Amino acid sequence: MIVAIDGPAASGKGTLGKRIARHYGLAHLDTGLLYRAVAYQLIQAGKPLTDEAEAAIAARKLDVETLDDETLRGAEMGAAASKVAAFPGVRAALVQLQRAFAARPEGAVLDGRDIGTVICPDADAKLFVTASAEERANRRFKELASRGDPITFDEVLADIRARDERDTNRAVSPLRQAEDAALLDTTKMDIDAAFRAAVAIVDAAT
Ligand code: C5P
Repeated sequence: MIVAIDGPAASGKGTLGKRIARHYGLAHLDTGLLYRAVAYQLIQAGKPLTDEAEAAIAARKLDVETLDDETLRGAEMGAAASKVAAFPGVRAALVQLQRAFAARPEGAVLDGRDIGTVICPDADAKLFVTASAEERANRRFKELASRGDPITFDEVLADIRARDERDTNRAVSPLRQAEDAALLDTTKMDIDAAFRAAVAIVDAAT
């Protein structure tokens, strides 16, 4: 069984992906971490985020087993990730790795921006998870503040809007709802309500 979850930044798709994977006994890949890791490697190597060739090399070297959540989770890396994620060479280098993950014998949940449209178009269940930009900024702000990040709410909202804009309007694999994906708007839901709604969608599709 393959579950594809897409949606904009801080829509709750990562948390949902994790819980759905646990519920059905599937492996889980947060594909945003891949793009974050590519950006991180460029920054570490002192290369500009505009260097497509270097970014593609970094993408080809990624190993899903060694992604370090803690370093990659910050707001800065999210913004940097959405820049390198627009490069066709980076996206192409990450396709096989994501499809290989989806083909794991136990089945898998992948969450990202183009899972239902490009990476796993034949997924058994597809969800497009969204929420208003203000609500997403609110959630992300609380999460970052609880980790001691000094970022303000307005900065988080501006970052989310800028990322939505870049992710939706890029030429390759833009963020969009697959035709056969179920829409889950979590603006007025807490995580438990969103999880129950997501399970109902997956059960109905499989
Ligand atoms: O989901 P997350 O916020 O970790 O993603 C970081 C960035 O990586 C996104 O803003 C997006 O540009 C990019 N991304 C992508 N395709 C995916 C997952 C993430 O382009 N499947």
